[in-house]
Amino acid sequence: MRILMVCLGNICRSPIAEGVMKTLAQQHHLPWEVDSAATENYHIGEPPHRLSQKVCLQHGIDISQQRARKFTKADLAKYDLIYAMATDVYKEMMAIIGPNQTTNNVHLFLNELHPNQNESVPDPYYGAEDGYQTVYNLIEATCNIIINKYK
Ligand code: 4NP
Repeated sequence: MRILMVCLGNICRSPIAEGVMKTLAQQHHLPWEVDSAATENYHIGEPPHRLSQKVCLQHGIDISQQRARKFTKADLAKYDLIYAMATDVYKEMMAIIGPNQTTNNVHLFLNELHPNQNESVPDPYYGAEDGYQTVYNLIEATCNIIINKYK
């Protein structure tokens, strides 16, 4: 299984999702390839936000080696499952992909946790530290569902 997690900056939400999903795959001895990407250019090449790194480390996950990269149209064919962390991200991804493409493998991440609700993982970037813990908890719960669904 190849899984791609996508958010706006690839420094807050999707790096946590990449770290949690990779850790769960390892724990289940699954040879899954997991990556993450951004729809926006602001933080390309940067490591994850310090508070995303901190909350992951509190759960034993080191995401310090990740670097933000842009989501591209080529990712559509490369990954089996592509998750948008929020509805605005999903719209941006569709704009990058362009018309007349099959996008059956692109899903809203939280629909795995709360089917058909079209909810977004809240953007913690402009908020306080506890927002990152809230985001981590949502991501961990959803990644557990994904692993049990596809393992
Ligand atoms: P992310 O959070 O999409 O979870 O990585 C954001 C990071 C940076 C910005 C927005 C969201 N920004 O506007 O720079």
